[in-house]
Amino acid sequence: MPVITCIDDLKRLHAARAPRMFYDYAESGSWTEQTFRDNTADFAEIRLPQRVAVDMSNRSTATRMIGHDVAMPVALAPVGLTGMQCADGEIKAARAAEKFGVPFTLSTMSICSIEDVAAHTAKPFWFQVYTLRDDDFMRRLIERARAAGCSALVITVDLQILGQRHKDLKNGLSAPPKLTPRSVANMMTKVGWGLGMLRTKRRFFGNIVGHAKGVSDPSSLVAWTAEAFDPALDWVRIRQIMEMWGGKVILKGILNVEDARRAADLGADAIVVSNHGGRQQDGALSAIRMLGPIVEAVGDKVEVHLDSGIRSGQDVLKALALGAKGTYIGRAFVYGLGAMGEAGVTKALEIIHKELDTSMALAGHRRVTDLSREDVLLPADFHSRWS
Ligand code: GLV
Repeated sequence: MPVITCIDDLKRLHAARAPRMFYDYAESGSWTEQTFRDNTADFAEIRLPQRVAVDMSNRSTATRMIGHDVAMPVALAPVGLTGMQCADGEIKAARAAEKFGVPFTLSTMSICSIEDVAAHTAKPFWFQVYTLRDDDFMRRLIERARAAGCSALVITVDLQILGQRHKDLKNGLSAPPKLTPRSVANMMTKVGWGLGMLRTKRRFFGNIVGHAKGVSDPSSLVAWTAEAFDPALDWVRIRQIMEMWGGKVILKGILNVEDARRAADLGADAIVVSNHGGRQQDGALSAIRMLGPIVEAVGDKVEVHLDSGIRSGQDVLKALALGAKGTYIGRAFVYGLGAMGEAGVTKALEIIHKELDTSMALAGHRRVTDLSREDVLLPADFHSRWS
């Protein structure tokens, strides 16, 4: 077993252990993948200060996200198909998050259903919805999340239509996987993954099959997803969905100051500055580049979170210093899951926690809640290079 010291180590193991089509699904951006690359490259442009002779004892990364206590401000982002990276993946990731004390967000496009994850966890988790054309199905989905005790609804607002990811098309991505000679040959080399999948019954989209009209089996699901997302989404519809839920709401996928103002005016509990991990608008600016202007515009009205590009605790620190009250990891936990199941997600959280705690101390702080704009060094044109 290799020594694992960073998220990149988990990524290498994930690539070795999960079938190619699922690893590629996680490791893709849309079209040319420019925004996907910028998300991490722009974090690397930011530098951290080093302070000395400051008392670094009794440190804490604990804080709150939308009023919920968190061991560190890092939630697990909603990621589709997580249960294909590793058998029962959503349950494993939710359990790791629960034990660590950070929020887990279940995707609508998960393999394990809302009820299934609730039955295998003790604490409430967050549930993510896309805005769907089928109002009836959406109402029932929201009802199911309520009945399962979910404590926040994360509404994805940046996926009315899908940004094309070339690899998914080339790989024939589906759940369960399309069996071509190439994909079967690749899966046969992933013995641990295959045994897990043989042992579990959870191989389809658990929130959808048997619940949405016209989806009775996995092949009709492919047609459903192409039709399901609502291209006519507007702010009125977002308000309706918020009202259907009536509880805490997080609007995910904001990358523009004007949109952030609209979202804040709607009374969301938080917005997530995100470009969907570089999977939607190719050429959009990175989330970390847009964070500062959005915090400046609405940071006193709504909690601002950041997702897209976080691969380390140093990245978390940079986002917090630029005004985020919380962050999300998607790929970083999925690598852990694909590498080592629940233990791998725990490992990803431990790595990020240690990096955050150490870099916070070396920047001269004992609490994440004390971080401010002075705790990062930005290139002079970081926010103005493109206008
Ligand atoms: C779905 O939200 C995806 O990015 O694949």
